[in-house]
Amino acid sequence: MSEVKNRGGFGGKLVAILAAAGSAIGLGNIWRFPYITSENGGGAFIIIYLGCILFLGLPLLIAEFSVGHNTKKNPIDAFATIKRGWGWLGALGLVSVFLIMGYYFVISGWTLNYAYASATNGIGGDFGAFFKEFTSATWAPLICTYLFIVLNHIIIIGGVQGGIEKASKVMMPLLFVILIVLAIYSLWLPEGREALGNVFTPDFSKVTGKTFLDAMGQAFFTLSVGMGAMLIYGSYFQNGTKLSGTAISVVSLDTLVALTAAVIIFSAGVENESGPQLAFVAMPKVFSTMPLGNFWATLFFLLLALAALSSTISMHEAVTSYFVEKRGMSRSAGATLVTIGAMALATVASLSLGVWDGVRIAGMNIFSLLDNFTAIVMLPLLGILTSIFVGWVWKKEDMRAELTAEGGVDATTYPVIRFLLRYVCPVLVSIVFIFGIIDFISSL
Ligand code: TRP
Repeated sequence: MSEVKNRGGFGGKLVAILAAAGSAIGLGNIWRFPYITSENGGGAFIIIYLGCILFLGLPLLIAEFSVGHNTKKNPIDAFATIKRGWGWLGALGLVSVFLIMGYYFVISGWTLNYAYASATNGIGGDFGAFFKEFTSATWAPLICTYLFIVLNHIIIIGGVQGGIEKASKVMMPLLFVILIVLAIYSLWLPEGREALGNVFTPDFSKVTGKTFLDAMGQAFFTLSVGMGAMLIYGSYFQNGTKLSGTAISVVSLDTLVALTAAVIIFSAGVENESGPQLAFVAMPKVFSTMPLGNFWATLFFLLLALAALSSTISMHEAVTSYFVEKRGMSRSAGATLVTIGAMALATVASLSLGVWDGVRIAGMNIFSLLDNFTAIVMLPLLGILTSIFVGWVWKKEDMRAELTAEGGVDATTYPVIRFLLRYVCPVLVSIVFIFGIIDFISSL
């Protein structure tokens, strides 16, 4: 099939890992993980989270890679090729990833402004007021967000190898270097080491049903599973790529980065400032008291921007692949359509923190609605459906062939993955999902 031949792919195994790790490592690791952890009792939450990553996230990631790699198609065609009539599952993922883009791009835009403001000494005085004023303004955050989306666009029209692969090869090593430098610096501060001890000591008294929900939601979010992004990257992996090995590398890198980000943030002594403002209010405040504070703050926000960019290109690519392969558009036309759509939705999300704050659905502004709906409803739902698809719908022999022959899962681990996908994922995620919905509705 010609469509398969000229769709491009990653040039090697290492770059496959870098690109997929780039999708996984994002605002979820550096901005979201630390504040969710601090809200949920620190060490105890981390233990539950690691369980979710290992028993739910990892098998789902392997499942998604294998659907993409097996079919070498966009998410909709991939599901439909394996089983007729299942294309809607790919479509559901793409709609969800588009909704995530709506608010994720807004926060990504903020990182640019914060990096710039830190470098030019622009965040002074009251950090909370600066955040509120900036994010609720009309034009400044919009311009940053558009700039960020344009950066995405440029990478995406470069193609899989010329754009995504090249960008990942530059961005990911840079991200790791900045992260390590910041971590060493924060551990070098004596008060940092003390604060760390407090955060990582498990406090099981704070564990409730909601803790499990938060842990699972965070695990799915941080691994980018269920939304077609990992599926499309899997479809670009070379033949012979070990899918399980790649997934383990991605999960390990993602977890290391999340834990390191938590170390950096908590050792700066901000464990009491929880909530989404942690990275944008507490961190600049802490940096401002340090020698060379502006330098460290700039580095920190550059780190956030890099992480966000490598994640958003995978979101963009997943949706673009639909327009290119299913609607027959050229790559640049498909990408332009996605870019314009993302700009429109991000505009609404950004304005909903300011002039349109009055527009509320179920008590939430559009920004929070996009965040909550995707995290609480779509992520678990897609996790359940994907595990059912791979565990029950996909013909056993075919899935086995994909994983054991090409996927590199040896005969002993394959049954474990299959068992997790058939029973553990659907059941556990459903339980957590149902309680999540009840909790969500009762909180309205
Ligand atoms: N994993 C990303 C992060 O941690 C966020 C994310 C969620 C994502 N779903 C996605 C990224 C789908 C790409 C595609 O920040």
